[in-house]
Amino acid sequence: MADFILSRTQAATLEELNASRPVKVIAVTGGKGGVGKTTVSANLAVSIAAQGRDVMLVDADLGLANVDVLLGLHTRFHLGHVVRGDCTLEDAIVTGPHGVQVVPAASGVRSMANLSPAEHAGIIRAFSELYHSVEVLVVDTAAGLHDSVLTFSQAAHHVLVVVCDEPASITDAYGLIKVLSRERGVRRFQILANQTRRSGEGPALYEKILRVCDRFLDVSLEFAGSVPYDDYLRRAVQRQTPVVDAYPASVSSLALKNLAVKADKWAVPQGARGHLEFFVERMVGAQMGPSTVLQ
Ligand SMILES: Nc1ncnc2c1ncn2[C@@H]1O[C@H](COP(=O)(O)OP(=O)(O)OP(=O)(O)O)[C@@H](O)[C@H]1O
Ligand SMILES: [Mg+2]
Repeated sequence: MADFILSRTQAATLEELNASRPVKVIAVTGGKGGVGKTTVSANLAVSIAAQGRDVMLVDADLGLANVDVLLGLHTRFHLGHVVRGDCTLEDAIVTGPHGVQVVPAASGVRSMANLSPAEHAGIIRAFSELYHSVEVLVVDTAAGLHDSVLTFSQAAHHVLVVVCDEPASITDAYGLIKVLSRERGVRRFQILANQTRRSGEGPALYEKILRVCDRFLDVSLEFAGSVPYDDYLRRAVQRQTPVVDAYPASVSSLALKNLAVKADKWAVPQGARGHLEFFVERMVGAQMGPSTVLQ
């Protein structure tokens, strides 16, 4: 643990940096696979960065459609290497469009709940020693109810649930909200309707989820908006460029940029608990149950 202690100067600099800039953490999740979590995370992060914020995008999914592929980035290391001490977090970060700092898919993250004490210390230190400033941290989570999905969502300040108008997406989103609320103490969710095909589909989808949640769960849901189904978005994926850059006037781009404007207004945590290393501590502490996690 000795090398975990920061030098006085390092600690002072870090304190100054963090005191001026609390970090807002947004987890993008959804339960079902293929609903658009990675697409939304990447475009949201890029759009918030384009608005002048310092943004970090953490790829917490080991699936095939990874953030680095979507953004056309070449990566050498990931968070798993950082946890194992093979490289620093700075080594693993790659810079994406508009300066977004991308932490590539992390094999170590899946087992975040089972890290050894040395690994805990390592990951917290990795984040707290980061000299980049970060104002917004966007986390792209995997499909399903894996522990990593629950842990990242629990540790985030805002949980954005991506849903499509199909029965499996709706039931999976509900299942995720239920587990996060009952087992992890998460009470507030933002619902984003993706791949909508007609006007009114998004609000109707939100109402549907709201009705069932109101009936059975103690949660509050907000409607974050709709992203229409858009062939330009698919073309942008082929070009390995975020649609907000590749086709800025397309319907999906406009919706995603709107979401970014909204997300930028979501409350920023105040005080020490908003800092990046506190997010990581929340994440690591999440395994101990909701009562031990800072809310
Ligand atoms: N609004 C949209 N319009 C058209 N296609 C879309 C839209 N959103 C996502 N897609 C497409 O849907 C597919 C799945 O998207 P994405 O990989 O972002 O989903 P995911 O939820 O991250 O999937 P996984 O659960 O596998 O991680 C991709 O081919 C993507 O291009
Ligand atoms: Mg994905």
